[in-house]
Amino acid sequence: MGMKILTIDVGGTHVKVLATGQKERREVVSGPTMTPGAMVSAVKKLVADWEYDAVSIGYPGLVVHGKIVAEPKNLGRGWVGFNFHRAFGKPVRIINDAAMQALGSYHGGRMLFLGLGTGLGSAVIVKGVLEPMELAHLPYRKGRTYEDYLGLRGLKRLGRKRWCRHARVVISQLRAAVEADYVVLGGGNAKKIDVLPAKTVYGQNSNAFIGGFRLWRDKTAPARRRRARPVVGTAVVLVLACLWGATALAAGGTDGAQNLSIFSPASTPAYAITRMAALVLGVAAAIFVIVGGLLAYCVARFRRRPDDDGREPPQVYGSDQIELAWTMVPFVIVFVLTLATTRTIFEVQGATPPPNALNVTIVGHQWWWEIRYPELGVLTANELHVPVSDPANPTPTFLTLESADVIHSFWVPRLGGKMDVIPNRVNRTWIEPLEPGLYLGQCAEYCGTQHAHMLLRVYVHTAHDFERWVAAQKQPASRAAQVAAGRRVFEQTACINCHSLDGTVATGRFGPDLTHLMSRDTILAGAARNTAENLRAWINNPDALKPGALMPAMKLGPEDVDQLVAYLTTLQ
Ligand code: CUA
Repeated sequence: MGMKILTIDVGGTHVKVLATGQKERREVVSGPTMTPGAMVSAVKKLVADWEYDAVSIGYPGLVVHGKIVAEPKNLGRGWVGFNFHRAFGKPVRIINDAAMQALGSYHGGRMLFLGLGTGLGSAVIVKGVLEPMELAHLPYRKGRTYEDYLGLRGLKRLGRKRWCRHARVVISQLRAAVEADYVVLGGGNAKKIDVLPAKTVYGQNSNAFIGGFRLWRDKTAPARRRRARPVVGTAVVLVLACLWGATALAAGGTDGAQNLSIFSPASTPAYAITRMAALVLGVAAAIFVIVGGLLAYCVARFRRRPDDDGREPPQVYGSDQIELAWTMVPFVIVFVLTLATTRTIFEVQGATPPPNALNVTIVGHQWWWEIRYPELGVLTANELHVPVSDPANPTPTFLTLESADVIHSFWVPRLGGKMDVIPNRVNRTWIEPLEPGLYLGQCAEYCGTQHAHMLLRVYVHTAHDFERWVAAQKQPASRAAQVAAGRRVFEQTACINCHSLDGTVATGRFGPDLTHLMSRDTILAGAARNTAENLRAWINNPDALKPGALMPAMKLGPEDVDQLVAYLTTLQ
């Protein structure tokens, strides 16, 4: 590949650099005051005339998974956590200097690298893959480790002659132990061994540069640490979203939202559903707390630490207890939830109407609700009126749901569950409100552009008020003489093709019945309040209020509109 690498060998006395394609290496004096920032600017000046795409750094200290985790002994401070990537403006890979030399010394097979310096570095390369080792701290003799003997302290304690003897023994032992084909020695003290054991060679310092180049070219580069931030960020966003959603559901930002919450039931089937939801939420919350807690504990307790050796922990296989536990516990949970769900389904869907039940047929249209009371002979739209039910003498309302066009879904959250409204199919559901009041609902199945404006209002009355409402609905349409002109406009335009109005020629079925139009609080299926201004705006240009609505603009003159609206507002 054409990638040009700048390799930097950081040492206690000099920083040496070489880049791909350059013949001469260059160096600059380092020393005990050199900070990483000073190193970067010195190197940048040094190689100002070189081209390179990426940087390899051989660092004289502990590097774990490409990160410097300990300050160097012979340089200035600030190396741990320094952002070399930003300082160079190029991708940077960092490796221990001995490991970089080992990488450069590799020429096939199984190779053991030993760095004889202050301490004892070790690494094995097999098939080009570098595996750092911690052989230095294994026990050797008299309770002391290999490093105690072969490190700088050992050299001082034993003297060069005895140190050499031990070095030869240790090198042969370790080579046999890791079944290496050959050993490469590096580090400042390697050359102090006068006679090398079999299959052992000195590493060339210049091999460090080859190692630096290989860090990018070969698969021997240590896996770079994955960035944790996006994951953490996503988790934070998710948690905040959940909290926001929970607050919105629990508190209800506005009256409307509260009136649409399944957590404030006011009807028998809605209570059953809320109980079921609470059970499922409780079980799920308990699982979440236990699993999330264990996860958080493990993340904190077993997080990466500077002194980690980077090795895999012991792997556990075939624990009968664990496998039984994680099979049986979910089985029991799912079984309990299945029983509870089944009971709720039978409770809600298996209910038989008592003799006092009210029957209502609701037909979904794009985008409004047709409401018929077959036994009472009442026809209305979008605003369902029902009696409150007294548990001692229940008067629930049983709903027959049909569709005139596409699939809709009937949903009044506080009164009951969702029930789809499907063409050529009759679905049934029921509500049994226990408190009078207004309950809001919404078409809950996307049914076209005005799906969001397909609202429902359910008025729950006392028995007496409900009877009064029925009686008013059964009155004939108003025929006030002073609006005869408006009625004539109505009867002479295409209104009559789609709308029905008792006592007139209008018998259309495509739009809402208008006989008692003014008894309704809203028009356009809850999208606007039922006022003279809104009626006028609606008749003039339906598309402006409810784009896509099937009602066409009638193109009436202003006078005709005035008369028509005057007529409509008498239809109490
Ligand atoms: Cu009807 Cu959505």
